[in-house]
Amino acid sequence: MTAKPDPSRSSASVARRNRIVFLLVMFAGAAAAIGITALLVNIFSHKQEAKNPYLRFVAVTPDTTDPEAWRKNWPRQYDGYRRTVEATKTNFGGGDVNPLQKAEAYPWLTRIFAGYAFALDYHDRRGHGFMLFDQESTKRVTERPQPGACLHCHASIIPTYRRVGGGDVQSGFVKVSAMKYQEGHDEVEKTGSLDPVWNGVVQEMKHVEGAHPVSCVDCHAPDTMELRVNRPGFINGIRALAMSDSPVPHLLSIERWRAGARKEPYDPNRDATRQELRSFVCGQCHVEYYCGPKVTLFYPWNNGLRVEEIERFYDEYNFPDGHRFYDWQHADTGAEVLKAQHPEFETWSQGIHARSGVACADCHMPYTREGAMKVSDHWVRSPLLNISRACQTCHHYAETEIKGRVDVIQQRNNVLLQRAGAAMVALIDGIKTAQAGGATPSELAGARELHRKAQWRLDFVAAENSMGFHAPQETARILAESIDYARQGELAVIRKTVPKN
Ligand code: HEC
Ligand code: HEC
Ligand code: HEC
Ligand code: HEC
Ligand code: HEC
Repeated sequence: MTAKPDPSRSSASVARRNRIVFLLVMFAGAAAAIGITALLVNIFSHKQEAKNPYLRFVAVTPDTTDPEAWRKNWPRQYDGYRRTVEATKTNFGGGDVNPLQKAEAYPWLTRIFAGYAFALDYHDRRGHGFMLFDQESTKRVTERPQPGACLHCHASIIPTYRRVGGGDVQSGFVKVSAMKYQEGHDEVEKTGSLDPVWNGVVQEMKHVEGAHPVSCVDCHAPDTMELRVNRPGFINGIRALAMSDSPVPHLLSIERWRAGARKEPYDPNRDATRQELRSFVCGQCHVEYYCGPKVTLFYPWNNGLRVEEIERFYDEYNFPDGHRFYDWQHADTGAEVLKAQHPEFETWSQGIHARSGVACADCHMPYTREGAMKVSDHWVRSPLLNISRACQTCHHYAETEIKGRVDVIQQRNNVLLQRAGAAMVALIDGIKTAQAGGATPSELAGARELHRKAQWRLDFVAAENSMGFHAPQETARILAESIDYARQGELAVIRKTVPKN
């Protein structure tokens, strides 16, 4: 059977039909394309919104150091930030209106710092709003020459580095660090005065025209408000740590980088997790550092973060003049000793909280609810003033019980700390007496080395600001070693200098 030819299928009508079908297909295609585009635009803008969920009233840029400008967009965070000038008090922490000299509580500090600026003036810390004011007014700055490097952690300084470095933050950092303190300070003021939004609401927060203490731009990228670090000392230090083979099980992004191709240097802003950044922003400043006149400020993490890893780095590090690293020569014993400063990041790193993924901000900047909004508490302070939000989100027992547990840790640490202080003073007296009795440098060399070791450990715990809480067993171990080295030193003095009969 053969089909009759269909008259409607003349070549002309077929062509017309084909054209209609073609147009329909085109139309459908275009509609689909438009639909898909619209969908993509929608997804994209939602993504942008998620990335940038804030309504802005004023623009802030990487140069906006003035928190007053940021306040217009983020008043809640600003209000918390501003409260860092309020006085608070806990057993071992808090920020008093007139912070005590540390040596009032621990007189042995004056002995261990003999011959060094810390014997002149060394206060308890207080809130962030005071950081620049307290640095400008300490006798360590007003009565001793200090480098511009001091400002690295006490001012909102990155735009100054960028300007002085002709666009390059790292080279500006090197230049400002090498200046005299006052010169560096003048540079910071110059940068800030380009941005005169401040109303002088809180005097301490802007002691001198244009210069600000730590500000929003030091922890946040102004375009997305995401956390990021920008202090060159930290970026260089964490890179050096990544290059070492010291285990850092609490910093998985470093472990991952080490296991990977390592084509690019470790970059915390690219590689770190958000949770890590919630500690890294604090680790920009709450760390051991060296900022003397001979070399640019650095964080000594090339062998790792532990007390003996840092010590090994210092012991093997030579100044440009070839001399082994030391902070100063102790006035009573002649030992070339080290100064430890606020190693909170390093100590936290050895504790159970870091190991469990608990960040500085979890305890020191806990979330609060304001209506439907979650707001991080920018009143950075002792978590013991805020136990319900700082601790009870994870530890479901009574506030008095939590306080009690912290108190046990801190009291035990304090008892060991006082023992270590006493042992240290005994060694200093031992060496001093032997020197007065005519002991030679070679007879004292062993005891002086032990002085260096014991004092480094004692100061590491004394200068850490949590009274043992951040890593109780680690600080106990360090203090036990300190006591042991101090007493070994005393024995060394006795063996070398007491005449045998
Ligand atoms: C699990 C909670 C927790 C974590 C995580 C934590 N801290 Fe603390 N921190 C504390 C407690 C508790 C104290 C003791 C406060 C006191 O004695 O009043 C403290 C004390 C301090 C102090 C002294 C506070 C004061 O009022 O004098 C500083 C500074 C500090 N921590 C910084 C840090 C930094 C930086 C990190 C991260 C590297 C960190 N902390 C991680 C709980 C925490
Ligand atoms: C790596 C960051 C960093 C650098 C660099 C730095 N500081 Fe600080 N400074 C801190 C931190 C963190 C605190 C708060 C913790 C504490 O007091 O232990 C602090 C506290 C202080 C205080 C208040 C408590 C006290 O010690 O009386 C003074 C004053 C001070 N620093 C002066 C200086 C001077 C002077 C220099 C330069 C020699 C300097 N700082 C360099 C981070 C730094
Ligand atoms: C730019 C450097 C810098 C950064 C970043 C920084 N701090 Fe501080 N912090 C300081 C200095 C300096 C002081 C001491 C100020 C003073 O005594 O005048 C201080 C003081 C403190 C105190 C004592 C407050 C009190 O009331 O006694 C706590 C707690 C603290 N910081 C925790 C943190 C935490 C947590 C972070 C991260 C979220 C952080 N800091 C980030 C430099 C810094
Ligand atoms: C020392 C570091 C630091 C400084 C300085 C700082 N912040 Fe934050 N900020 C944080 C941390 C940590 C978070 C929590 C971010 C997260 O978990 O992703 C945060 C979160 C925020 C958020 C997100 C919403 C929230 O509350 O969690 C905003 C908005 C914000 N900060 C604004 C500001 C403003 C405005 C300033 C200056 C007045 C400021 N921050 C200063 C560390 C800082
Ligand atoms: C984000 C959760 C979280 C927060 C917030 C938190 N902790 Fe913890 N804490 C833990 C974890 C996890 C452990 C480890 C024990 C475990 O696995 O149960 C721990 C352990 C402890 C221990 C035993 C410490 C040791 O070294 O043996 C104490 C004490 C403690 N926390 C106190 C506090 C205090 C005080 C605060 C508030 C300042 C706090 N924690 C905040 C999660 C948290």
